[in-house]
Amino acid sequence: MAITQYTGRKSLAAIAATADGHGNGLAKTLGPFSLVCLGIGCIIGAGIFVLTGKAAASFAGPAISLSFVLAGVACAFVGLCYAELAAMIPASGSAYTYAYATVGEIFAWIIGWDLVLEYGMGAATVAVGWSGYAASLLDSFGIHISAQWALATGEVLRLPDGSSTTGILNLPAVLVVLVLTLLLMLGTRESSRVNNIMVAFKLFVIAIVILVGVFYVHTAYWTPFMPENTGTFGQFGWSGVLRGSSVVFFAYIGFDAVSTAAQEARKPQKDMPIGILGSLIICTILYVLMALVMTGMVSYKNLGVPDPVAVAMDATSIGWLSILVKCAALAGLTTVIFVLLFGQARIFFAIAQDRLLPPLFGAVHPRFHTPFISQALIGGVVAVVAACFPIDVLGEMVSIGTLFAFLLVCAALLHLRRSEPEAHRPFRTPAVPWLPILGIAFSLLLMLGLPLATWIRLVVWLGIGLAIYFSYGQKRSLVPSDA
Ligand code: ALA
Repeated sequence: MAITQYTGRKSLAAIAATADGHGNGLAKTLGPFSLVCLGIGCIIGAGIFVLTGKAAASFAGPAISLSFVLAGVACAFVGLCYAELAAMIPASGSAYTYAYATVGEIFAWIIGWDLVLEYGMGAATVAVGWSGYAASLLDSFGIHISAQWALATGEVLRLPDGSSTTGILNLPAVLVVLVLTLLLMLGTRESSRVNNIMVAFKLFVIAIVILVGVFYVHTAYWTPFMPENTGTFGQFGWSGVLRGSSVVFFAYIGFDAVSTAAQEARKPQKDMPIGILGSLIICTILYVLMALVMTGMVSYKNLGVPDPVAVAMDATSIGWLSILVKCAALAGLTTVIFVLLFGQARIFFAIAQDRLLPPLFGAVHPRFHTPFISQALIGGVVAVVAACFPIDVLGEMVSIGTLFAFLLVCAALLHLRRSEPEAHRPFRTPAVPWLPILGIAFSLLLMLGLPLATWIRLVVWLGIGLAIYFSYGQKRSLVPSDA
């Protein structure tokens, strides 16, 4: 692969050439509709179905809908930057590829490593949320999963009667990851069809929740709309809205996953912006409406449970509605795990093509046209993580990692506008440099809403990534180093 333009950086032309699909073996099967579905499939998941309730109960109250607006605005800024880069550099690998084309290899590696938090850890987080709804649904039918097999390793659940259960491992989370991994190994086309059906079901039920729920809203639950701050930063009041935003930001993660499928898109230049921005706009509207309806149906204090949407729907006393919501949540969460696992394999694929990871991550199955070994390895690791860690720790880690990657994407766009002003841009981000600067500022603001322990974990994670780069990737890279 001829790549070198100058030290530690690939040329845009070289990336475009590899993105043409010549010889990379990936099938080009995705059109704009499938891409929007891929985005929605990845966006609406544990964020709205699980974390909204927790954030409303602990941080923002009914003002959680404002948190959604704030996080949505931040994502819109970043999404517009993503759209320009994805249309301009239609290669697998998402922000990793953009960074390689702009700021150089080491930064690209840092972003790629950081994206493992978003995709791999994200899939594990959502699998844990899936497990909560699965247990709740089975419970509705009188089937009880013993808590020790549905909690993270060592996680303690205290029951109202004073007894407690300690988790061994989260078995349903493991199962869902393994089944979806198998599906992805068998082929994109088949799996994306399944994805489209699941997305349709999820949207249908969300529409029902909003349309039925609105008749059960008691405006008294919205008073006070923004409960007074308790004296601690992040517990209600405006700082609570910010903390809530940092938590529900998780709900927006995924619109960028569309960009990781660029090499499998039929017309990436046209379809990438449609896929990214279309899915983002639809989800923002649904989230704000859902948050308003949920906090209007029951007191926000009752929403800090593993299945808050179902709890809100219980207020209607329409029994089947709660069951339907649980089924939709399961379908919704399934599609999210699916797209995140898909995206993670494509990012590793791009990194392996640059030899920063071993070649097996770039191997494509001759018949299924999928990176099957990589997909299997990712599935195994994600299943172990999902088995052992609780949703709060995973969710915050995913949010900070993703926000950091978003910040770097906006910076990469600014850099690219200066370094390659003449490059062909099928989609141009408006109001440059202000819009990317706002993207950076909003990402940083949301990162600041997360606790210190999460920041420390991010630093440790990046340290491990750098150790891998200097001991493996740098020595084998296709791009010559300074020496
Ligand atoms: N946005 C995805 C979710 O909420 C990651 O589950």
